[in-house]
Amino acid sequence: MHVNSKRTKISNMFRTAIQRLTSSSSIAAAATAFGAATYAYTFDNPVSASAKADDSSEMDAIKAWMKETDVKLAKLEANAVSSGASSIMDTSKATNKIDIVLGAQWGDEGKGKLVDMLGMHYDVCARVAGGSNAGHTIVVDNVKYKFHLVPSGILHPATKCVIGNGVVVHMPQFLKELKGLKEAGVDTTGRIFISDRAHLVFDFHQAVDGAQESKLGRNKIGTTKKGIGPAYASKISRNGIRVGDLQDWEYFEERFRALVSSTMSQYPSLNVDVEEELKVYKEIASKIKTMTIDTIEYVNSQHKNGARILVEGANATMLDIDFGTYPYVTSSNPSVGSVLTGLGVSPNKLAGIYGTVKAYCTRVGEGPFPTEQLNDYGEHLGTVGAEFGTTTGRARRCGWLDIPQMQYSAKINGYTALNLTKLDVFTGLKSVFIGTKYVDADTGKPIHSMPASLRQLYKVKVIYEELPGWTEDISKCTSFEDLPPNAQAYVHRVEELIGVPIRWIGVGPGRRDIIYRDV
Ligand code: IMP
Repeated sequence: MHVNSKRTKISNMFRTAIQRLTSSSSIAAAATAFGAATYAYTFDNPVSASAKADDSSEMDAIKAWMKETDVKLAKLEANAVSSGASSIMDTSKATNKIDIVLGAQWGDEGKGKLVDMLGMHYDVCARVAGGSNAGHTIVVDNVKYKFHLVPSGILHPATKCVIGNGVVVHMPQFLKELKGLKEAGVDTTGRIFISDRAHLVFDFHQAVDGAQESKLGRNKIGTTKKGIGPAYASKISRNGIRVGDLQDWEYFEERFRALVSSTMSQYPSLNVDVEEELKVYKEIASKIKTMTIDTIEYVNSQHKNGARILVEGANATMLDIDFGTYPYVTSSNPSVGSVLTGLGVSPNKLAGIYGTVKAYCTRVGEGPFPTEQLNDYGEHLGTVGAEFGTTTGRARRCGWLDIPQMQYSAKINGYTALNLTKLDVFTGLKSVFIGTKYVDADTGKPIHSMPASLRQLYKVKVIYEELPGWTEDISKCTSFEDLPPNAQAYVHRVEELIGVPIRWIGVGPGRRDIIYRDV
């Protein structure tokens, strides 16, 4: 679309949002219109490249409308909350408790979309665990940008972003993402902070990750090769280097030389140009100086001052080093505990714990996957669901929703609501299946908990329930009642089996293709 007609479209969208705010008291209608306009502004924004030079008064008008709508909407929502009415997203956003979006399965559940949508309601958006093994994609002006370390909240101009102490940061990757954002017209100045206690991932950690995988041969973990395991190993071995160390160059240099030398003693064929790396990191140190802060102080004082905080989980519970399918896991704790240990906040500050679960199930890398479908169903889910990793591009393994796994995940994390994604991927299937129980393949005896032993998990037999599918395109559905009865029945059944309300339902790949249910 031509830049000017795009602008006119965005202007009109904001006009609609304001009209709805003025003419009715429906927060939902106004917020939907505002959300649509903001997304169009943020993602289809023609200012990002070519149009910046001929910026016009129309763009100023759009910005003014955006502000006006935001203020009006906030007022309307505050009134509704104080009068007991429910808001578009979640009443907890009116409090300053911390809300969390977690991956409930083996990752790639589509957390990013919910975080993007919720982001506009929060003052601070934080990452607390993992590193550049996580990934989400954003589209700006029809160009895709892949992000791995920067929280999605960065796309909302008023949101501040925090990379907590529990994250392991590969600085070149982080700076590359900031550069990409800058090129896309997103101003990150003064809006992103990294914990001085977060640990650094070096290139040699990534090389070690690759070397360890090669050594394991056919027993490999199938890591993302982003150096996550080796960086956390350095942290736990107490010879790791933290982001804050970069601000004390002598100390950093000493620690760096020691770390390289101890790593080289284990991997003599590693090729590390120490002097060159030190040069690179000296430059990095000055680039990140103002972003490096004590995020524990920052987050807690923001909370004290009434800020609304959202934690963007990375990876997922079944990849948790403690709770996942060890050793086919990542090296951090992507479940709810990491919010406390990776951000430095107390449990009484937590409120909404939102588990993101695909309508089916996928996993990348090796390891057991009880409901995997190596057949036409798996093929359908992978193809229609475009199941390729954001970080590695690898094809994801696909299967049916696994209820014992989800019950285990809900037990650990205490989800207050679920975000069921990609329901539309089922469209066209005559039947859909849910894995409801595990039984021992040899004895036929039911297995009531998630086996720690992989040998046992590899050979569980899954009992499936078959539900009728649907053929209707559901991507235009905007309310639960719009969904075909069979799709509604699927959602109800999943809710019943897991025992947690499903508040959001993903019905299409677009950023606005998500249904909100007031549950
Ligand atoms: P690592 O985190 O790179 O060490 O990889 C360990 C395991 O976790 C591998 O099976 C990866 O494929 C998997 N993994 C790590 N992060 C993600 C993620 O964000 N989504 C899906 N799988 C992941």
